Order: sequence, then C-alpha cells, then structure tokens
Amino acid sequence: KVPVFIDCDPGIDDTFALALAKKSPALQVLGIGAVQGNVGLGRTGANALSIASYIGLGCPVALGATYPLQGVPMGAAYAHGSDGMGGVALPTPDRTFDRRPAWKLLYDTAKACGGQLQVIAIGPLTNIAKALELYPDLKDMLAGITVMGGSPTGLGNMTPSAEFNAFNDPWAMEAVLESGVDITVIGYDVTSQAVVQGDELEAMIGDSRIPLLLNGMRRTFVGEESDSKILNDVLAVMALTDPQVLTIEQGSLRCLTGRADRGTTVLTDDGSPVRYAVGLDREKMLDVLRRMCADYQK
Ligand code: BDR
Ligand code: CA
Repeated sequence: KVPVFIDCDPGIDDTFALALAKKSPALQVLGIGAVQGNVGLGRTGANALSIASYIGLGCPVALGATYPLQGVPMGAAYAHGSDGMGGVALPTPDRTFDRRPAWKLLYDTAKACGGQLQVIAIGPLTNIAKALELYPDLKDMLAGITVMGGSPTGLGNMTPSAEFNAFNDPWAMEAVLESGVDITVIGYDVTSQAVVQGDELEAMIGDSRIPLLLNGMRRTFVGEESDSKILNDVLAVMALTDPQVLTIEQGSLRCLTGRADRGTTVLTDDGSPVRYAVGLDREKMLDVLRRMCADYQK
C-alpha cells in the first residue's frame, strides 16, 4: 500500500475524500493534518478528528496553521456552513489530537517512510509550505504531493480566475509548486466537473453506514440552485488510487500573489515541471464513489 498523509480543512468534500482514502486498498493513511480553510482551524481540526473516528481511520490527527502565510483567514462558510459540515452533529472523537503541529507530524511520518510518502493536500497549502520551509530535507523524503487547488486554465470559484485553496494562501501554493517535489495539481477547472446530482448521492449513500456525509451534503453548498454538489477533493485521492478517472498533462504552473491576481494559477515556461489534470471521466468517478459507498454498507 502507498503510505499517505492527508492535509485537509473539512469541509464536506474533504470528508468524502477521507472516506475514500480509508476504503482504498491502494492506500494506507498514516497521518492527517488540519489547516484553516473552509472554516477556522478550531472547526476544521475538530471535524477532522471526529471524521477520522467516525470512518475508522486510526492514524494521528494534528492541528496546523490558524492563518495563511500572509494576511487573515478567508473562509468558505457560504458553501460548507459555519461549522464546515453543514450543521451535522459529529460524534465524539475516540482520541485526542496528536501533540505535534501538523508540519512536524508530516515530517516525522515522511522520515519513517523512507521516501515513499505521498501527500494529498485538499485545503489551503499553508501546513505543507511550513513543513517544507522548516525542514529543508523534507522535499527529498516525499514521493509526491497531489494538490486540489488552483485552476490551470483559469476558471475560478473565488474570483473569476482564482480557486479557493489557492486564493486562501497563494504564497503557500506558490512555495509548494516551486518546491522541487513531484507535484500533481487537480485544479478547479477540472474538479468543477465532479458534479454529483442529489439523486445520485441518495442512491449511493442512502443506505450506508456513513449517513452523516449524506446529511451534511443535503445541507451544504447552500445557495446553489440545484441539489447537485461538486466533490472537488475526492479527485485528489483518485489521482493516486484510480488514475483512469483523470487525464493528466505536464507543464509548469505558478501561483500569482498580487492584489488583483491573488490565487490565479498560470501555465508558464519559467516554473518547475508539474503534472496537472486536464480532463475528468465523470462516469468513472461515479463508479469509484459507488464502490466506496458500497464498502460502507451496514
Ligand atoms: C476547494 O475549496 C474548498 O471549499 C473545497 O473543500 C475544496 O478543497 C475547492 O475550491
Ligand atoms: Ca477542502
């Protein structure tokens, strides 16, 4: 199994991504970091700990950054509810937080994995950027980082061209892109196609042991006109577990940090090489999600 560290800001689609990683026979989740993002760290951390308990992920869960590298946190409560989970009451966690900060947990986990550790980053990249800065030898210990963030062709959900995770902490996104680690970017221009209709969701998880996810979905992403949802973050897990779902190309990508272009990612000639998603097979994605939900049947 591929050892992975998941850095997240749950977040409903983050929750689906954690549930998928837990059930994948290809992955072993060795650590979870929480970062400010969709809501503040107090909530994303508590949510991550509860969700890990709920779905049976026994790994350590550590708290990370309360602020982006610059400026103040910029949340997405409009999409995930003020608690990040659409108002769903989560069960009491079966453990407490790991005492290390998320970046130290990541470093220690990488060290123990002899170059094999893959990072899946599905929130703002603050924790990962801090880890790479604090531990300069970390970059040579990671097998790769898969990021849900940015938007290589420039379709945004925060500004017309900036995606939320990149917009929240563009300084961290840029640092990760330029870190020299093997990077795969699954941007919003592709994840925005990861639309699941309300009836498809009901059919998948209505009868599963994870109804909290469905209930959360019912109540979040408020303000959308239809009951369809976008499961952005699951694609960062599928990039590792089910590559047939995505079409990937190579290029180099930078993240802009200016006032007017904050969080906009652009394909350039002067950056480090990365892989980035250019296409999604939605039917194949649904197959993977259905298989995952069936694995959670009562
Ligand atoms: C990203 O922003 C968050 O709201 C989602 O959890 C996802 O990580 C999509 O832009
Ligand atoms: Ca997220």
